[in-house]
Amino acid sequence: MSTALAFFDEGQFPLYLAPMAGVTDPIFRSLCKEMGADVMVTEFVSSVGVIKAWDRNRRYVQFIDEHRPLGVQIFGSSPEYMAAAARIIWDEMRPSFIDINAGCPVPKVVGKNGGSSLLRDLPLLNSITSAVVAEMGSDCPVTAKIRIGWSPDSINAIDCCHGLVDSGVAAIAIHGRTRSQQYGGQANWDIIRECALACPSVPIIGNGDIASPEDVRRIKEEGIIRGVMIGRAAMNAPWIFSQCKSYLETGTIPESPSPQARVELMIRHTRLALDSLHYGSDIATMRAMRSRLLAYAKGIPGAKPLRVQLARVESLEQLQEILSPLR
Ligand SMILES: Cc1cc2nc3c(=O)[nH]c(=O)nc-3n(C[C@H](O)[C@H](O)[C@H](O)COP(=O)(O)O)c2cc1C
Repeated sequence: MSTALAFFDEGQFPLYLAPMAGVTDPIFRSLCKEMGADVMVTEFVSSVGVIKAWDRNRRYVQFIDEHRPLGVQIFGSSPEYMAAAARIIWDEMRPSFIDINAGCPVPKVVGKNGGSSLLRDLPLLNSITSAVVAEMGSDCPVTAKIRIGWSPDSINAIDCCHGLVDSGVAAIAIHGRTRSQQYGGQANWDIIRECALACPSVPIIGNGDIASPEDVRRIKEEGIIRGVMIGRAAMNAPWIFSQCKSYLETGTIPESPSPQARVELMIRHTRLALDSLHYGSDIATMRAMRSRLLAYAKGIPGAKPLRVQLARVESLEQLQEILSPLR
């Protein structure tokens, strides 16, 4: 079936890098692209922030052509603001799609009726989506990312998807948790499958707890869900994308990088981040890199003492010194 998003055509099964605030910055996106991610979504940006302080907020969603196909994700609770923000972003950046966040659980977003709070108010979610779809017209497809509901006793993903389809979205990514689960418990893939079966006209992308190429192949072979979105597993091990690709194509999974190769990636990522000036000063960049480095260190045997040092690292030189016994 042909869709507004060409990467779903011809039986493709795209591997998405999940949007992750503070993680999926342009440098990390480039690394994931290099390692095989097919589609990216930027971390979210506030629609109010786009309208009132675009110069300050632009950096959250900046991208380069190599990241395409890429969606810019916006959040908010006002149809007018969301549509106006989408227009500003489209006019300046020409993303491959605009993605509406209806899944974020953090109080700062939910407290202003954005993110997953929209799951408690489907008419508002539909008004937002319709307004953004109308504003974008034929310029740019609009997609949405949802959770399966607000709480275990108000799971409404199927209703939510029907509303989104009627509002004109081109695809829906579903994180198989409720808002009250935050990131705990397990993602419920049965509900994601039910949504895909109930809404066959629009690609459903499954998200939550994908940890291995075997997970991806199983979901692909079921033939119900049209693509997968990988978050935390990619944060720790971005090479998961190339492993998935290889497994889907050849049935074999390339070995994960050795501890030495991980260390080289830690240094390369840090160097690229410093050169990019994305976080401003060197020290601001190193502070932003600490959690990234800790994530990479997870797979290195005996990394516990290393972790304490990585959590305080202040310069590339210091990082190289800390990692030198492993090189
Ligand atoms: C640090 C972090 C930041 C996140 N930021 C966003 C975000 O900006 N927008 C969004 O839609 N989801 C965000 N998420 C949710 C992820 O996109 C994804 O839905 C979730 O992590 C489940 O997928 P996973 O099990 O593969 O990690 C974030 C998750 C994490 C861990």
